[in-house]
Amino acid sequence: MSLRTGSSYTVIVRHTSDELVDEAATLLINMARGTKIFAIGLSGGSTPRALYETMARRQSELDWKAIHLFWGDERCVPPDHPDSNYRMAYESLIQHVPIPTENVHRIRGEDDPQAAAEAYETELRAFLGEYPRFSLLLLGLGDDGHTASLFPGTAAIHESQKRVIAHYVEKLNAWRITLTPAAINAPHDVMFLVVGSSKASALKQVLEGEKQPDVYPAQIVNPFLGRVYWFVDVSAASLLEKTPNEPR
Ligand code: 6PG
Repeated sequence: MSLRTGSSYTVIVRHTSDELVDEAATLLINMARGTKIFAIGLSGGSTPRALYETMARRQSELDWKAIHLFWGDERCVPPDHPDSNYRMAYESLIQHVPIPTENVHRIRGEDDPQAAAEAYETELRAFLGEYPRFSLLLLGLGDDGHTASLFPGTAAIHESQKRVIAHYVEKLNAWRITLTPAAINAPHDVMFLVVGSSKASALKQVLEGEKQPDVYPAQIVNPFLGRVYWFVDVSAASLLEKTPNEPR
């Protein structure tokens, strides 16, 4: 395994996304094993679909009564909309596994954004405690360095009180609901999945560039007491200087 462990993060590089996803699934399964409650914050976009499909394929290795699904962000659209992060997770995972309905805690993208953000924060605190922490938070990386729906140049990057906010993202011309840095950096483990050459520049800046989170919001990710696992393929890792070993 080619690992580079920094102060609190590990970079795992693999040739193909299949290898990467299977290894990420194995880590998640091992983390969940034997737990009474395993709260996963799901990431959206397209990359994690393969991980969710793998979790569905390997479903016998997970205790679905213990698994609770949350989301790190959501687009402000109905749950059956093609852009919905919930819909992607439903299609690739939820509909295939015996997870109790009450264990799925989606963000209500169909509602008024501010109301939906407040309702989701209330649910997080009710289920995960006053200072909500997941068992594992999954995150992706945009080619502009965003993560969850913390986009470059947005005030959300500096939100320190709320755990969830709704904001209008100019560059997308759309409303988004997202965990804030205060929620992302709770004491829990974080797993990034980053695949493809389009992410190489952002990944290099986030991991090896100067600290400028307004430009590269994923730089804010530094969970208190948690570990950050960066699962990346060779294309995304192609510009990294500090991962010396060739992937296995
Ligand atoms: C979203 C995600 C977002 C995503 C990145 C990477 O709602 O889109 O939460 O942060 O993880 O944009 O997306 P891809 O995996 O599709 O490249």
